[in-house]
Amino acid sequence: MPTKPDIPIALDVQDLQVYFKLRGSGLSRLLGKEGGTVKAVDHVSLRLRRGEVLGLVGESGSGKTTLGRAILGLVPATGGAIEHTSGGESVDISKLRGRALREHRTKVQMIFQDPHAALNPAMTIATQVGHPLVIHQKLRGAELRERVVAALESVGLAPAEQFMGKYPSDLSGGQKQRAVIARSIILNPDVLVADEPVSMLDMSVRAKILQLMLDLKHKLGLTYVYITHDLATAKFFCDRVAIMYLGKVVEIGPTDEIFANPRHPYTQALLKAIPDVDPAKQVPRDLPRGEIPDAARPPRGCSFHPRCPLARAECGWEPRDLKALVEEHWTRVPVDEYEHEHAVVGGLRELNTDAKTVLVQPTRGGTVAEIFAMFTKIRDENPDEPLWSGVTRIEQTPDGVAFDFAEPAEIALHPAGSSEVACVRVNAQ
Ligand SMILES: Nc1ncnc2c1ncn2[C@@H]1O[C@H](COP(=O)(O)OP(=O)(O)O)[C@@H](O)[C@H]1O
Ligand code: SF4
Ligand SMILES: [Mg+2]
Repeated sequence: MPTKPDIPIALDVQDLQVYFKLRGSGLSRLLGKEGGTVKAVDHVSLRLRRGEVLGLVGESGSGKTTLGRAILGLVPATGGAIEHTSGGESVDISKLRGRALREHRTKVQMIFQDPHAALNPAMTIATQVGHPLVIHQKLRGAELRERVVAALESVGLAPAEQFMGKYPSDLSGGQKQRAVIARSIILNPDVLVADEPVSMLDMSVRAKILQLMLDLKHKLGLTYVYITHDLATAKFFCDRVAIMYLGKVVEIGPTDEIFANPRHPYTQALLKAIPDVDPAKQVPRDLPRGEIPDAARPPRGCSFHPRCPLARAECGWEPRDLKALVEEHWTRVPVDEYEHEHAVVGGLRELNTDAKTVLVQPTRGGTVAEIFAMFTKIRDENPDEPLWSGVTRIEQTPDGVAFDFAEPAEIALHPAGSSEVACVRVNAQ
């Protein structure tokens, strides 16, 4: 098993942070407002042993690509380290610059999602596959040709002579991705980051490309980071899986364990959303309660709490959740009721915050008692809504209705069985 402790570590990501500063709109800059920060990778630690396949799984926007790009040194790390060990020597990729970084990129390669975009339409397959050898090793002539032939044949583009003079448009999607893989292995790297390498290919060739990658891994002693939003391919392909949500790893463990015993409510929801083999059921079912939140303003406490069916008091409830609840309530009530309530509380703007305490004030036409009655009614409609467990005070004051929210628990990965899980509910068991 690749998780045996005597197999050396190939990649050690330690407390990695990759933050993007948003510049904000022209207007907000004029008004002197900061653009905010997206914590695309937020304190992530991962270790890969040589020969291991680690899956990074999560919905769009969870930070998978950014983590992959950081491993290649394509985006700067805000903090933490990415230690890569090859031939007994370790370097921190996040500290490399210039020539050392270019050198590093010969050892860690990336396979991108779209093979069509990854290839230059005006260059022959042989030229493109051999390009890294020309750049990094100054190869030419017969030696170059020989290496290109070997690479093409090792990815199943054989006999190579039939493909060398062709252009990308002459190849099928699967063949193009094979050419991209040939180019990515031609410098004998030891780590490959594959970012959704089959998601743009026809169903019929996906398994073949993944099988090819597994064969190459064994033949060439590669270590893979496999990025996907698709748990079904991760199950087939990975030794271990890390589930990511809004920049954080929420669960990580051996693939078998993740599938047999998913512990984090988000992992459980993702597993339920795996499309069925029955084509009639192939639309992925929605995760509970809505959309992925805005990454520049992640929820308090556990980022998953607004969507979590099992959330409880200490998961990080905040005024924004109350706002969402009122808005949801308004979609269900008759128009005249909505209009009355809306007139009393105004636009709910004061609730658009993650503060611990908030005061909802009546508009000029409304009273504190009317606001209190509205919230009481909403609570009575669904007293089991987990948000209410996180509200520690609802009180009428002379100026409005005051709400206090419970302090969130610290959410961090803790061992659970052979996995690690970041969830207060799991960690309390
Ligand atoms: N260059 C960038 N500048 C600003 N924000 C970015 C940049 N790259 C990614 N992001 C943001 O970081 C988050 C993670 O994105 P990404 O790594 O592409 O996620 P995934 O691959 O899981 O879909 C998203 O909110 C995305 O909008
Ligand atoms: S900590 Fe666990 S129970 Fe609480 S919201 Fe997050 S996933 Fe749900
Ligand atoms: Mg991505």
